[in-house]
Amino acid sequence: MKILVVGSGGREHAIIKKLRENAAISEIYALPGNGGIAADAVCVPIAATDIDGIVRFATENAMDYAVVAPDDPLVLGAVDALEAKGIPCFGPRANAAILEGSKVFAKDLMKKYGIPTAACEIFTDMDAALRYLETAPLPTVIKADGLALGKGVIIAQTLEEAQSAVRSMMSDRIFGKSGERIIIEEFLTGPEVSVLSFTDGHTVVPMISSMDHKRALDHDEGLNTGGMGTIAPNPYYTGAVADACMEEIFLPTIRAMAAEGRPFKGCLYFGLMLTPKGPRVIEYNCRFGDPETQVVLPLLKSDLFTIMQAVTNETLSSTRVEFSSAHACCVIMASQGYPTHYEKGYEITIPDSVRSHVYVAGAKLENGRLLTSGGRVLGVTAVENNLPAAIEHAYQLVQQITFGNAFYRHDIGARALKAGSEEN
Ligand code: AMP
Ligand code: GLY
Repeated sequence: MKILVVGSGGREHAIIKKLRENAAISEIYALPGNGGIAADAVCVPIAATDIDGIVRFATENAMDYAVVAPDDPLVLGAVDALEAKGIPCFGPRANAAILEGSKVFAKDLMKKYGIPTAACEIFTDMDAALRYLETAPLPTVIKADGLALGKGVIIAQTLEEAQSAVRSMMSDRIFGKSGERIIIEEFLTGPEVSVLSFTDGHTVVPMISSMDHKRALDHDEGLNTGGMGTIAPNPYYTGAVADACMEEIFLPTIRAMAAEGRPFKGCLYFGLMLTPKGPRVIEYNCRFGDPETQVVLPLLKSDLFTIMQAVTNETLSSTRVEFSSAHACCVIMASQGYPTHYEKGYEITIPDSVRSHVYVAGAKLENGRLLTSGGRVLGVTAVENNLPAAIEHAYQLVQQITFGNAFYRHDIGARALKAGSEEN
């Protein structure tokens, strides 16, 4: 079997490493991949958003299956285009990827089908939005409608901050067209949980839960990032919470998408907040999370490719999806200055004994040397029988890796360790 994986980050590296466990897969191609992924797949320099290039490569090289991992190509219709050429895919079509591609679509869907989420108002007119803010409770949450590289959310503590957020999105267009429509939403509190799920449009099978750490610095300070580390399972996500989420959120979402004529097939990521009033959807993503994947897939005992094919063939209900009872911790090693300005081009040194724990996110190969090329550089994952051991092991591994300007959070998992002693 020849498989194509679209994408170039740590998430894609984790997917590729897991796919390699299936002996029927003889070749894996990463488009475009990165210098670290090159150890596990053939990297082809075709951008993840170059849909024509991806389809041409897949047909000319007779790919048997394609995994489209990032949100942009999914929203742009990569799966539709590949399927039109007869190539089976893992990932939603564009008409279902809109669940992430448009926050307004997601909000309207949740409203229509009674799926619990933060109360909100939607605006296309800046003056109306500014007038609304005068009476909106603080803090307030302001979101640009479309994809904004995970940065389209501003939590405003004061009226002035809220007004300037609305102006920067709707007038200055800091997120481009995504600012044509904005959402002003109720501020929720509670622990956040990421639940990635496999779904074939009929059946939904949640994967093990996880917790991301979005802020750049220790103690949840600094700017929001793509994610600085993860642990799994998430201790706040108890069996009772999981049951409630299945009944109130997961199944209703899958059924709603089917009822709208937009069956969702692929990985649906539920970003949840466990509020005092119950679980609420903060966001949907139409793809695996990054760096959630780097803790979830190492705990998957079943064969990933078999599950992906079951999703494609709509036979998920009769497919085993089993997770280990172990715990995982992933620490992201980033370039100092991420998520804004950072230098790159520094050599990365990873001892051989550590390599199997490393998912490469931002690195390139030059004359056989691995050099930093991105903000998030590596994800380092350890799996142990309990969470404290997984955290300790992950940090031991991190300390054996070196590159110029490296930085990482020192408290990944600290909040999860405290979970038992909090009220939630
Ligand atoms: P999103 O891009 O929608 O995931 O939002 C990014 C982050 O903003 C989330 O992970 C939350 O921490 C925070 N956030 C988003 N919406 C809300 C909300 N309604 N209330 C409180 N925090 C929120
Ligand atoms: N780690 C958050 C995301 O993948 O969107």
